[in-house]
Amino acid sequence: MAQDKRIAIYPGTFDPLTNGHVNIIRRALRLFDKVIVAVAADTGKTPLFSLNERVDMAEKVFARESDIVVEPFQGLLVDYVASRNAQTVLRGLRAVSDFEYEFQISLMNRKLRPDIETLFLIADYRWLYISSTIVKTVASLGGDVRGLVPDHVFACLRARFGFDPVGVDEPIAPLPSPALPGQPDASAPNGREQPC
Ligand code: COA
Repeated sequence: MAQDKRIAIYPGTFDPLTNGHVNIIRRALRLFDKVIVAVAADTGKTPLFSLNERVDMAEKVFARESDIVVEPFQGLLVDYVASRNAQTVLRGLRAVSDFEYEFQISLMNRKLRPDIETLFLIADYRWLYISSTIVKTVASLGGDVRGLVPDHVFACLRARFGFDPVGVDEPIAPLPSPALPGQPDASAPNGREQPC
Protein backbone atom coordinates (compact mmCIF):
# COMPACT_ATOMS: atom_id res chain seq x y z
CA MET A 1 0.00 0.00 0.00
CA ALA A 2 1.50 3.30 -1.09
CA GLN A 3 0.23 5.07 1.98
CA ASP A 4 2.17 2.71 4.28
CA LYS A 5 5.45 3.57 2.53
CA ARG A 6 5.03 7.18 3.54
CA ILE A 7 5.40 6.49 7.26
CA ALA A 8 8.87 6.68 8.77
CA ILE A 9 9.65 5.37 12.21
CA TYR A 10 12.40 7.34 13.97
CA PRO A 11 13.51 5.25 16.96
CA GLY A 12 15.77 6.28 19.77
CA THR A 13 16.21 6.66 23.47
CA PHE A 14 15.62 10.43 23.31
CA ASP A 15 17.03 10.99 26.79
CA PRO A 16 16.36 13.76 26.03
CA LEU A 17 15.28 14.84 22.55
CA THR A 18 17.82 17.30 21.13
CA ASN A 19 17.66 19.79 18.28
CA GLY A 20 19.72 17.30 16.28
CA HIS A 21 16.85 14.83 16.50
CA VAL A 22 14.30 17.55 15.75
CA ASN A 23 16.22 18.51 12.62
CA ILE A 24 16.23 14.92 11.30
CA ILE A 25 12.50 14.54 12.05
CA ARG A 26 11.43 17.75 10.32
CA ARG A 27 13.62 17.10 7.28
CA ALA A 28 12.15 13.61 6.98
CA LEU A 29 8.74 15.18 6.49
CA ARG A 30 9.91 16.25 3.03
CA LEU A 31 10.07 12.56 2.17
CA PHE A 32 7.32 11.07 4.33
CA ASP A 33 3.73 11.98 5.16
CA LYS A 34 4.17 11.08 8.78
CA VAL A 35 7.05 10.48 11.16
CA ILE A 36 6.51 8.40 14.25
CA VAL A 37 9.05 9.24 16.93
CA ALA A 38 9.39 5.87 18.64
CA VAL A 39 10.76 6.19 22.15
CA ALA A 40 12.43 2.95 23.16
CA ALA A 41 11.85 1.28 26.51
CA ASP A 42 14.57 -1.28 25.77
CA THR A 43 17.75 0.56 24.90
CA GLY A 44 20.54 -0.90 26.99
CA LYS A 45 21.06 2.56 28.52
CA THR A 46 20.12 3.86 31.97
CA PRO A 47 18.12 6.93 31.09
CA LEU A 48 17.92 10.07 33.21
CA PHE A 49 14.26 10.53 32.27
CA SER A 50 11.66 7.78 32.58
CA LEU A 51 9.98 6.42 29.48
CA ASN A 52 6.87 8.47 30.25
CA GLU A 53 8.91 11.62 30.73
CA ARG A 54 10.80 11.11 27.46
CA VAL A 55 7.54 10.58 25.59
CA ASP A 56 5.89 13.53 27.30
CA MET A 57 8.77 15.89 26.49
CA ALA A 58 8.74 14.93 22.81
CA GLU A 59 4.94 15.14 22.64
CA LYS A 60 5.04 18.68 23.98
CA VAL A 61 7.72 19.69 21.48
CA PHE A 62 5.66 18.41 18.53
CA ALA A 63 2.21 19.23 19.96
CA ARG A 64 1.30 21.47 17.03
CA GLU A 65 2.63 19.21 14.27
CA SER A 66 -0.01 16.64 13.37
CA ASP A 67 2.31 14.79 11.01
CA ILE A 68 4.71 13.99 13.88
CA VAL A 69 3.47 11.42 16.36
CA VAL A 70 5.30 10.29 19.48
CA GLU A 71 4.86 6.77 20.84
CA PRO A 72 6.68 4.55 23.30
CA PHE A 73 7.62 1.05 22.21
CA GLN A 74 8.86 -2.06 23.90
CA GLY A 75 10.59 -5.10 22.49
CA LEU A 76 12.15 -5.42 19.07
CA LEU A 77 12.14 -2.34 16.88
CA VAL A 78 11.30 -4.30 13.73
CA ASP A 79 8.21 -5.84 15.36
CA TYR A 80 7.04 -2.40 16.38
CA VAL A 81 7.65 -1.05 12.85
CA ALA A 82 5.62 -3.90 11.35
CA SER A 83 2.83 -3.29 13.88
CA ARG A 84 2.53 0.24 12.51
CA ASN A 85 2.35 -0.98 8.89
CA ALA A 86 5.52 0.95 8.19
CA GLN A 87 8.51 -0.15 6.14
CA THR A 88 11.11 2.49 6.91
CA VAL A 89 13.30 3.04 9.92
CA LEU A 90 14.83 6.50 9.92
CA ARG A 91 18.21 7.16 11.54
CA GLY A 92 20.55 10.12 11.60
CA LEU A 93 24.28 9.91 10.98
CA ARG A 94 26.48 12.50 12.62
CA ALA A 95 29.96 11.23 11.99
CA VAL A 96 31.90 8.33 10.59
CA SER A 97 32.00 6.98 14.14
CA ASP A 98 28.21 6.51 14.05
CA PHE A 99 28.47 4.46 10.91
CA GLU A 100 29.81 1.19 12.28
CA TYR A 101 27.13 0.93 14.96
CA GLU A 102 24.34 1.97 12.63
CA PHE A 103 25.60 -0.45 9.98
CA GLN A 104 25.46 -3.26 12.53
CA ILE A 105 21.94 -2.55 13.81
CA SER A 106 20.51 -1.94 10.35
CA LEU A 107 21.90 -5.27 9.13
CA MET A 108 20.55 -7.05 12.19
CA ASN A 109 17.16 -5.45 11.66
CA ARG A 110 17.25 -6.50 8.01
CA LYS A 111 18.11 -10.07 9.04
CA LEU A 112 15.11 -10.05 11.41
CA ARG A 113 12.70 -8.42 8.93
CA PRO A 114 13.99 -8.20 5.34
CA ASP A 115 10.95 -6.17 4.30
CA ILE A 116 11.95 -3.23 6.52
CA GLU A 117 14.50 -0.73 5.22
CA THR A 118 16.67 1.69 7.17
CA LEU A 119 17.09 5.17 5.72
CA PHE A 120 19.89 7.44 6.93
CA LEU A 121 19.85 11.21 6.86
CA ILE A 122 23.10 13.03 7.45
CA ALA A 123 22.73 15.26 10.49
CA ASP A 124 22.92 18.98 9.87
CA TYR A 125 26.43 20.35 10.51
CA ARG A 126 25.07 22.51 13.38
CA TRP A 127 24.33 19.42 15.44
CA LEU A 128 27.25 17.19 14.54
CA TYR A 129 28.90 17.58 17.93
CA ILE A 130 25.92 17.02 20.22
CA SER A 131 24.46 13.92 21.75
CA SER A 132 21.93 13.47 24.52
CA THR A 133 24.76 12.48 26.85
CA ILE A 134 26.88 15.57 26.24
CA VAL A 135 23.83 17.81 26.65
CA LYS A 136 22.95 16.11 29.97
CA THR A 137 26.51 16.38 31.22
CA VAL A 138 26.70 20.10 30.50
CA ALA A 139 23.20 20.74 31.91
CA SER A 140 23.97 18.78 35.08
CA LEU A 141 26.84 21.18 35.79
CA GLY A 142 24.70 24.26 35.19
CA GLY A 143 26.00 24.93 31.68
CA ASP A 144 23.80 26.68 29.17
CA VAL A 145 22.36 24.21 26.68
CA ARG A 146 19.79 26.61 25.25
CA GLY A 147 19.64 26.30 21.51
CA LEU A 148 20.88 22.71 21.61
CA VAL A 149 17.57 21.31 22.80
CA PRO A 150 13.96 22.50 22.38
CA ASP A 151 12.95 25.13 24.95
CA HIS A 152 10.68 22.70 26.79
CA VAL A 153 13.49 20.15 27.09
CA PHE A 154 15.79 22.90 28.34
CA ALA A 155 13.27 23.70 31.08
CA CYS A 156 13.00 20.00 31.98
CA LEU A 157 16.77 19.67 32.24
CA ARG A 158 16.96 22.73 34.49
CA ALA A 159 14.22 21.30 36.69
CA ARG A 160 15.75 17.83 36.81
CA PHE A 161 19.12 19.14 37.91
CA GLY A 162 17.58 21.46 40.50
CA PHE A 163 18.38 24.76 38.80
CA ASP A 164 15.91 27.64 38.66
CA PRO A 165 13.78 27.49 35.54
CA VAL A 166 14.83 30.37 33.27
CA GLY A 167 13.22 31.77 30.17
CA VAL A 168 14.94 31.40 26.84
CA ASP A 169 16.08 35.03 26.84
CA GLU A 170 17.09 35.22 30.48
CA PRO A 171 20.72 34.89 31.49
CA ILE A 172 21.68 31.75 33.35
CA ALA A 173 22.10 32.51 37.05
CA PRO A 174 25.46 31.82 38.66
CA LEU A 175 25.94 28.20 39.59
CA PRO A 176 24.71 27.23 43.05
CA SER A 177 27.36 25.45 45.08
CA PRO A 178 27.34 21.81 44.15
CA ALA A 179 26.43 19.35 46.87
CA LEU A 180 29.55 17.74 48.20
CA PRO A 181 29.41 14.29 49.77
CA GLY A 182 27.98 14.57 53.27
CA GLN A 183 26.66 18.13 52.76
CA PRO A 184 23.06 19.23 52.09
CA ASP A 185 22.30 19.74 48.41
CA ALA A 186 22.35 23.52 47.84
CA SER A 187 21.07 23.06 44.30
CA ALA A 188 17.89 21.19 45.29
CA PRO A 189 14.59 22.48 43.83
CA ASN A 190 13.60 25.67 45.61
CA GLY A 191 9.87 25.21 45.79
CA ARG A 192 9.08 26.98 42.51
CA GLU A 193 6.72 25.14 40.23
CA GLN A 194 8.66 22.57 38.23
CA PRO A 195 7.87 22.53 34.50
CA CYS A 196 8.31 18.78 34.06
N1 COA B 1 21.57 14.71 16.56
C1 COA B 1 22.06 14.67 17.80
N2 COA B 1 22.29 13.51 18.46
C2 COA B 1 21.99 12.38 17.83
C3 COA B 1 21.47 12.36 16.54
C4 COA B 1 21.26 13.60 15.90
N3 COA B 1 20.79 13.67 14.67
N4 COA B 1 21.29 11.07 16.19
C5 COA B 1 21.66 10.33 17.23
N5 COA B 1 22.09 11.11 18.22
C6 COA B 1 22.63 10.71 19.51
C7 COA B 1 21.57 10.36 20.49
O1 COA B 1 21.22 11.48 21.27
C8 COA B 1 22.25 9.30 21.31
O2 COA B 1 23.07 9.92 22.28
P1 COA B 1 23.44 9.18 23.64
O3 COA B 1 24.17 7.93 23.27
O4 COA B 1 24.27 10.18 24.32
O5 COA B 1 22.15 8.86 24.35
C9 COA B 1 23.11 8.59 20.29
O6 COA B 1 23.35 9.52 19.29
C10 COA B 1 22.42 7.43 19.65
O7 COA B 1 21.38 7.05 20.41
P2 COA B 1 19.85 6.91 19.93
O8 COA B 1 19.60 7.59 18.66
O9 COA B 1 18.98 7.20 21.10
O10 COA B 1 19.76 5.50 19.64
P3 COA B 1 20.16 4.41 20.64
O11 COA B 1 21.42 3.90 20.10
O12 COA B 1 20.15 4.80 22.05
O13 COA B 1 18.95 3.45 20.50
C11 COA B 1 17.48 2.02 19.37
C12 COA B 1 18.79 2.76 19.38
C13 COA B 1 16.48 2.54 20.38
C14 COA B 1 16.94 2.25 18.00
C15 COA B 1 17.79 0.56 19.67
O14 COA B 1 18.30 0.44 20.97
C16 COA B 1 16.57 -0.31 19.48
O15 COA B 1 16.16 -0.55 18.37
N6 COA B 1 16.01 -0.79 20.60
C17 COA B 1 14.85 -1.66 20.56
C18 COA B 1 15.28 -3.11 20.78
C19 COA B 1 15.84 -3.70 19.53
O16 COA B 1 15.17 -3.90 18.54
N7 COA B 1 17.13 -4.01 19.57
C20 COA B 1 17.80 -4.62 18.46
C21 COA B 1 18.35 -3.62 17.51
S1 COA B 1 19.40 -4.45 16.38
